[in-house]
Amino acid sequence: MNKKAIFLLGIIFALLVLILVVFFLNWHFNKHISFAGLSNKKTLIVYYSHSNHTEEIAKMIRQYLNCDITEIKSEEYENKNAAELTNLVTEQIKKNYLPQTNKINISDYNIIFVGSPVWQGNISLPVKSFLINNNFDNKTIIPFYTFGGFVNKSKLDNQVKELSHTDIVLPSFLTVCYKFTFTKTRLIRWLSKITL
Ligand SMILES: Cc1cc2nc3c(=O)[nH]c(=O)nc-3n(C[C@H](O)[C@H](O)[C@H](O)COP(=O)(O)O)c2cc1C
Repeated sequence: MNKKAIFLLGIIFALLVLILVVFFLNWHFNKHISFAGLSNKKTLIVYYSHSNHTEEIAKMIRQYLNCDITEIKSEEYENKNAAELTNLVTEQIKKNYLPQTNKINISDYNIIFVGSPVWQGNISLPVKSFLINNNFDNKTIIPFYTFGGFVNKSKLDNQVKELSHTDIVLPSFLTVCYKFTFTKTRLIRWLSKITL
């Protein structure tokens, strides 16, 4: 074997070791994490999702907390492609219009995770309807959002506070829709930092 081949093999070996170390550290970190801040609380995950990104995050949260989960539905947006949806939402935002959504009973829960895609820099209209139409007295809201390109997180958090009429809104989780690879680790860290 010539020197060049030995050098290349050495690099490949070093890369493999590095990948193994990263995976081990990640596994070790995730294994020892606890979500004690959320124990003994009745928790519900509520989300709206048009193209399943927010749903994926909602399901990841559920995987760790093993709590109830339910979807906000609105017929108005079903079977619409991205362009049709964008046109409709643009018109509706201009008119301050809010859509009809299914009824969701949150009375049995202390903590409500609320998941929304970002629409025109805002939380999505079905999630706005959900926040306006429910009573969040004595409940804690924990928001999470997925977006595609540009977003102002504090604007979204303020919308959640204003529409739900509660100040008990904990730090939110935000993730861009096409980078789910490292999302799990970030999500676990966010969940583990929640204190009530
Ligand atoms: C009508 C509409 C408006 C959107 N507006 C924004 C936006 O202002 N900023 C952004 O970063 N992404 C925007 N997006 C992208 C979505 O937020 C992103 O794809 C999200 O993950 C979709 O979630 P879902 O699959 O759960 O519906 C928009 C998408 C749609 C359909």
